Amino acid sequence: MNSEHIRNFSIVAHVDHGKSTLADRLLERTGTIPERMMRDQVLDRMDLERERGITIKMQPVRMVYHSDRRIDADDTQKDAEGIQKDAENAEFLYPELTYKIRGVLFMVRKNLGLGHKEQIYHNALEIEFRKAGFAFDSKKNISLRYDGKSIGTYQPDFVIENKVLIELKALPEIGRAQTEQIWSYLKGCEYKLAFLVNFGSKDLEIKRIVYDSARNSSALSALSLRDSAGGSNQVEGESYILNLIDTPGHIDFSYEVSRALHAVEGVLLLVDSTQGVQAQTLTTLAMAEAQGCTIIPVVSKIDSPAARVDEVKDELAQLLHISPDEVLAVSGKSGAGVEELLEAIVRDVPPPKSSSAGQEPRGLIFDFSFSKHRGVAVYLRVFDGTFKKGQSLRFAAAGEEFVALEVGVFAPEERPADSLSAGEIGYIVTGIKEAGVVAVGDTIGVIHGSLPALPGYERVRPVVWASVYPESQDDLPILRQSLERLRLSDSSLSFEEESSGVLGRGFRCGFLGLLHLEIVTERLKREFGLSLIVTIPTISYVVTTARPNGAPSGRETIYTPAKFPEHGDIMKIEEPWAKVIIITPPDSVSVLIQMLYDHEANTLGTETYHDGRIEMTVEMPLRELMRGFFDKLKSVSSGYASLSYEILSEREADVVRLDVLVAEEPVPAFARVVATRRVQEEAEKMVEKLHSLLPKQLFVTKIQAKSGGRIIASKTLSAMRKDVTGYLYGGDVSRKLKLLQKQKRGKKKMLERGTGKVNIPEEVFMKMVQSSAE
Ligand code: GTP
Repeated sequence: MNSEHIRNFSIVAHVDHGKSTLADRLLERTGTIPERMMRDQVLDRMDLERERGITIKMQPVRMVYHSDRRIDADDTQKDAEGIQKDAENAEFLYPELTYKIRGVLFMVRKNLGLGHKEQIYHNALEIEFRKAGFAFDSKKNISLRYDGKSIGTYQPDFVIENKVLIELKALPEIGRAQTEQIWSYLKGCEYKLAFLVNFGSKDLEIKRIVYDSARNSSALSALSLRDSAGGSNQVEGESYILNLIDTPGHIDFSYEVSRALHAVEGVLLLVDSTQGVQAQTLTTLAMAEAQGCTIIPVVSKIDSPAARVDEVKDELAQLLHISPDEVLAVSGKSGAGVEELLEAIVRDVPPPKSSSAGQEPRGLIFDFSFSKHRGVAVYLRVFDGTFKKGQSLRFAAAGEEFVALEVGVFAPEERPADSLSAGEIGYIVTGIKEAGVVAVGDTIGVIHGSLPALPGYERVRPVVWASVYPESQDDLPILRQSLERLRLSDSSLSFEEESSGVLGRGFRCGFLGLLHLEIVTERLKREFGLSLIVTIPTISYVVTTARPNGAPSGRETIYTPAKFPEHGDIMKIEEPWAKVIIITPPDSVSVLIQMLYDHEANTLGTETYHDGRIEMTVEMPLRELMRGFFDKLKSVSSGYASLSYEILSEREADVVRLDVLVAEEPVPAFARVVATRRVQEEAEKMVEKLHSLLPKQLFVTKIQAKSGGRIIASKTLSAMRKDVTGYLYGGDVSRKLKLLQKQKRGKKKMLERGTGKVNIPEEVFMKMVQSSAE
């Protein structure tokens, strides 16, 4: 496949800004999914995604887009295969040069905007062509011949590298007449390729016109299905393979976004026109910019009565330092603007810079799926060469070798193809069934290949930790298997086995955030039918402890509060911080400032949007962010504020271990690590809670909280008085007293013998460890 006709792009946005609904319209318009099979948010495959209306996993899909005609689904399939076959035979005319010229044209449009005279664009293009290092001529007279005889000369606006003619216009729009004129000029001269460029009233229009008498029409048809049908050599409409990767919007799944961005050249940055720019818009934009992706700004939901299209266009334009005219407007509901969007993708997203000719194949794994029969299917972006079924391949990092059982593309379901060439996105079935071999970010290539591994991804760091135990210990092997299976479709999940005295054996799992934790445990319950106990999520700390001689021992990362060292041994504690972006309506700001103070945040900067909303950038300990900050933010702003964060490195922390003791015995599973300044408050809260939950025992039971070697909160649970005299009838007082004395002696003995141990009922235990971290 000629990569000049491929566009790889992703849709990124804040949560719920309409990505999946827009993707539906793109699939529909390109005929990728027939109308009768269309359903809402068709790319959200998991039941959980559809029920909750959120995207959890990225989803690639390949579409074929014919730039100016409507097609049906059957055509799409045929055309896709047709293009692939033809394009393999036909070389695209001056692809590098074409790509560079387009780049210059868009640069001028971006810098100058629209609405100027032709001469203005001419002068600007001269400057930019010079900067780009082109050899060009703007005064060249080209002689034209007709029927073998010279009939005069023609002076195009530019001749680039003595190969490409450029005819410049600044008309409201250009039509067929102008195109045909250029085509007949080409027919009468030596040149084969011209660009008809119009800085029109609505947009920059570029028509690529080819006349090559040396080529047969089938070669040209690869570039122009429409024109080949009409038997003309003139190229106006062309067909493109559009590879879209739909990504999740929630911050917990931004690892999915970052991986998708490695596989594409462009992104649609979608902003809901009823909401405006939100915190996650800024984070995803920064990620796309860091990756060097071309950004196409789009406002969505323009059909909504609450839409503020112009205002939000302005906001987005300000953010990107562009003119609001360059921001596209679409509705995923009504389909308005989708046509223009598709044209913009073809026009603005650069084709992949890859070469398939003669190169050995090399690709980057951005995701994978697993099926029992075929093992792991890796999802990859091909950077070099061509992958084919039956090839012997190797993972660069894992070192594992395998034979490609199938290669294919996403249509959107997996559809086998003959090959996958440089620039394309698709899958390879590996047959590998063991967990832990395939990893995202690994490079796939031939055995004994000479190409180096591609730069992979940054390893993902879990943000929160929680323990997952099966309710019945008999289910432990099933839980282990299920976690391994889940990891085959969720590369960010990590876990290791642990055991707790009370709960038995289970797994300490690392998650990318609280929603990730919720989704994983929900999937374990639903997809594997498990009943689970999940403990309170905590973060990790890096602790340096002292040796007996006072020298520091190594730094140790502690994931479980019960393993947090005693106060006296600690030399230094470090904890992760987070940089948080908050966008909030102005009336919540005063409460928010108080909240930020309560959560130990430092404000780094604020900015006011023209609609009055405030953007605040702050840093705070991750521990404080996880202490219900997001829920509180939503509640003080009546749901209007948004938040996004990235994890920073560790900083010194002022935290202590807090233990809960029942009948003077610490209960390890109740241990917590809390801010020193809040330890008293937390201690009292926990003691109070346990006091209200724990049933009375046969003896007086102390419930205490201990921190830094001292008891800092305590409450006594009075003894249950067993009615030892109830069966006595009548008023024999001395007998009654005798029985009560006996009961008292028994309790005393029980305590003396140490048998006064309290059995914490399971439901109390679960309520204590499962309660959300308020
Ligand atoms: P996440 O994947 O969870 O980030 O969401 P998303 O960005 O994919 O948004 P989605 O397409 O699921 O849409 C979110 C909500 O907005 C849904 O209730 C949609 O029905 C609604 N919505 C999406 N597009 C439009 C639109 O063009 N117009 C209107 N009026 N509503 C829309």
